[in-house]
Amino acid sequence: MENVTIFDHPLIKHKISMLRDKNTGTMFFRILVEEISMLMGYEAMRDLPVETISVETPITEAEVPVIAGKKLAVVPILRAGLGMVNGILSLVPTAKIGHIGLYRDENTHEPHAYFAKLPDKIEDRLVIVPDPMLATGGSAIQAVDFLKSKGCKHIKFMCIIAAPEGLKALSEKHPDIEIYVGALDEKLNDNAYIVPGLGDAGDRIFGTK
Ligand code: PRP
Ligand code: URA
Repeated sequence: MENVTIFDHPLIKHKISMLRDKNTGTMFFRILVEEISMLMGYEAMRDLPVETISVETPITEAEVPVIAGKKLAVVPILRAGLGMVNGILSLVPTAKIGHIGLYRDENTHEPHAYFAKLPDKIEDRLVIVPDPMLATGGSAIQAVDFLKSKGCKHIKFMCIIAAPEGLKALSEKHPDIEIYVGALDEKLNDNAYIVPGLGDAGDRIFGTK
């Protein structure tokens, strides 16, 4: 899977291990999700194009690199993707934010759309789509389908934990997007939850049940 990056950084591994612990409470869980998203975002933006501009330093005039080209949009998949937004924004505070609301039916595990609002000129932007969990892949595939239907051409999907089934499905359905994964887990269980996973990401971020 050429379009997939699976992180292998001790800080990311350590923080994901703390997330998995069922005794990690809401406040610490939110902080960890934000920190992991920032670390993953730093790496995911490694290939942003730069251009050269002139600045005058206190010493001399210099040609220096700045981020060029496309503007950024961060488009989380609601709800749990919201928890990742601030970590990414801490790196690119001027990014515009969109939202795609999807929930998974408890029985069929199929995603259902309930909301969408995107920044203007979305087709000209690099779009980063965060969602902590990639399980069957249904939600991520539907979100990317939707973004492509709006003309988006450069999409990066970022998840904290993926199941092999979902990663394969997303990568095969959308080979032209880049996929960033914090940890690749073992499998899905009969309820399509990731094993060992961390449980229900939305419930753990928002303190619901
Ligand atoms: C979770 C998660 C993903 C989706 C992953 O959201 O945040 O969006 O499930 O599952 P999939 O890969 O099988 O589609 P959920 O539907 O539970 O909604 P929530 O974030 O509002 O809790
Ligand atoms: N959604 C979650 O929040 N967790 C899972 O393990 C699977 C889907």
